[in-house]
Amino acid sequence: MKDIRMKASTLLCSIATAGVLVTSTALLTGQGARATDTSADKPYHIVNGKVDMNTMKGYLYYGDQCMRCHGPDGMGSSYAPNLTQSLKALSQEQFENTVINGKKEVNQASDKVMPAFGTNEDIVENLDNIYDYLKARSDGALGRGHPDQQN
Ligand code: HEC
Repeated sequence: MKDIRMKASTLLCSIATAGVLVTSTALLTGQGARATDTSADKPYHIVNGKVDMNTMKGYLYYGDQCMRCHGPDGMGSSYAPNLTQSLKALSQEQFENTVINGKKEVNQASDKVMPAFGTNEDIVENLDNIYDYLKARSDGALGRGHPDQQN
């Protein structure tokens, strides 16, 4: 969905004035926004409790690469912080910088390490999807467990 929208916007950009672009983008994005869409202005789209494909990908990659430290559903563990809490404070840029570059808190009380994922293609490609998923969890828009995907 995001990809299609981006391609459409790029195309429109080259042939249309800014005014037309704004109108067309509103039409494109407006399609999914019904009364049941609780996330019209958010990076994720949840309709009747079901997530869009990108948010689902984020959930799956989170489970694959992040959950072993950050716990199920982003809820944290004794080793790594609760990301549903972290994302209340971190911007998307700060989130992405941390995942790409890693983070290390080494002192007498702690030797915890957040690994750098900058060379992990799967994660780099799905960074915004993982953010979408965790943001939905952080906003309370998505509950715990395996989400259902929209058709
Ligand atoms: C090997 C364990 C481990 C794995 C795997 C891991 N993390 Fe972390 N992560 C940590 C630790 C430990 C910290 C805290 C580091 C610190 O505070 O210095 C952290 C911190 C973070 C932070 C910063 C939180 C804050 O409040 O500042 C983000 C964001 C984050 N991790 C995202 C992810 C994502 C997304 C993945 C999967 C792609 C992931 N982590 C995988 C251990 C891990």
